[in-house]
Amino acid sequence: MRKNIVLIGFMGTGKSSIGVRLASKLNAEFIDMDREIETLNGMSVSEIFRRYGERRFRSEETLMARKLSAREGLIIATGGGAVLNPENIAIFRQNSIIILLEASAEDIWTRVNRKKGTRPLLKGASNVADIEKLLAVRAPYYDCADIRVNTSDKELEFIIREILQKIKEVSDPGGDNYQNALNRTQQRKSKKGSE
Ligand code: S3P
Repeated sequence: MRKNIVLIGFMGTGKSSIGVRLASKLNAEFIDMDREIETLNGMSVSEIFRRYGERRFRSEETLMARKLSAREGLIIATGGGAVLNPENIAIFRQNSIIILLEASAEDIWTRVNRKKGTRPLLKGASNVADIEKLLAVRAPYYDCADIRVNTSDKELEFIIREILQKIKEVSDPGGDNYQNALNRTQQRKSKKGSE
């Protein structure tokens, strides 16, 4: 039974904001991998890139993926490049439903411009066409998803409903479903907490 939900997708597709909302809907814990890596390293993702380079950041990502996969009842927002390392995908596959969030290049461009300077890999991107090129490079890596949801031109609540519906569809056929397993995890956690 898959016990976590992992949100993957390009920068600016809404992984964090959707993850927070989904977690509150499912009464699950939300984890943003980038924020966890920042806390652990005591510096921002940009700073890790600047001081130690992308390779170091990628190895932090894999360490974090391993650590989180040992837990259950989590909604995990990954960084957009977490799928580049096949080991991370294998780790997520072990016990997670993988949801790909997609958006148009135009939307991504608008969204990432609101948080300019926080994404080192977009330093060289100066227009929508640059985003399109990067999206084309990433596309094959995002194919590992169990579920795909487009977040362009949709209200947050609509996206959440779509995700919940699709989770039901991919839940283990004929047997348990994700929501039941999650409920049991919450019950175990609160029982432990009250002991
Ligand atoms: C990256 C995406 C970023 C962050 C890092 C690298 C990528 O996360 O992990 O800057 O390679 O696409 P977001 O997708 O949350 O912006």
